[in-house]
Amino acid sequence: MADITVIGSNMIDLMTYIDRMPEEGETISAPSFSMGFGGKGSNQAIAASRLGSDVAMITAVGADEFGQQQLDNYQENGIKTDMIIHGKANSGVAPIFVEPTSGNRIIIVKGANDELTPDALDQFKSQIQSSKLIVLQQEIPLETNYRAIEIARAANVPVLLNPAPAVEGINREFVNQVQFYAPNETELSTITGMPVESIDEIKAAAHKLIDEGVENLIVTIGSRGVLWVCKDDFKLIDAHKVDAVDTTGAGDSFIGAFAHYYVAGESVSEALQHANDYAAVTVTRKGTQKSYPTAAELKNL
Ligand code: RIB
Ligand code: NA
Repeated sequence: MADITVIGSNMIDLMTYIDRMPEEGETISAPSFSMGFGGKGSNQAIAASRLGSDVAMITAVGADEFGQQQLDNYQENGIKTDMIIHGKANSGVAPIFVEPTSGNRIIIVKGANDELTPDALDQFKSQIQSSKLIVLQQEIPLETNYRAIEIARAANVPVLLNPAPAVEGINREFVNQVQFYAPNETELSTITGMPVESIDEIKAAAHKLIDEGVENLIVTIGSRGVLWVCKDDFKLIDAHKVDAVDTTGAGDSFIGAFAHYYVAGESVSEALQHANDYAAVTVTRKGTQKSYPTAAELKNL
């Protein structure tokens, strides 16, 4: 049984590096393209595993050749694959456009990821119950996340929910049952309906969620760092000043690294600091999972 169980998505990232987005009806040529493994769930699992955690992935891979490639990728990265569902639909794919400023635009076509239903999850109950941490995002059916939270909570297993991408109509009752709720600032704004331009505004929105019953709120604020708020404490960690070339999947690398360090026994504050260091490295390299260092690589930087 693995220490960290990630229940979530897998996608094939179609990374297109562009000078600018085309206008309607316009065809433009772009400097480069590269394919890679992605999906928020898988990215988080890979980051934790590369850092040395014992990770299992519960996901639904597609019926096309990408499905097999995803399985191979988990295995190459030391992730347990005995809880993978073989979906009937095609694999999830994500066309991604990265502009020279390093910002990105992502479209997800979920495909087989929607086949990870609550019923499908039930067969893996014992793995969930014996994990040290469950990690969730929002690229699979919401009801599956609810079921995962129910199973974990009944067994006193902590859950980290990264509400990405933001989706409408979340049942807040479940959100208040997770130990870590980790949106980015844009998602925080969608969730609270509050502005998040300044750090003070972000703090105000964060406190609103704490008042409503969230236990630990971790807000990733891109190049401005990370904010952690709980009932009687808060901490703002500054981001490293780096030359960013591609921020795709940086948030996921942060979540996966946090899961790793926390499960390894660090305090929340230490784990956040180390996850922040890890994510900073990934933005200096192109690609999603491709840019995630292993523990050994990290040491030599
Ligand atoms: O967070 C980045 C990820 O979002 C990409 O890997 C893409 O697949 C989408 O899931
Ligand atoms: Na990157």
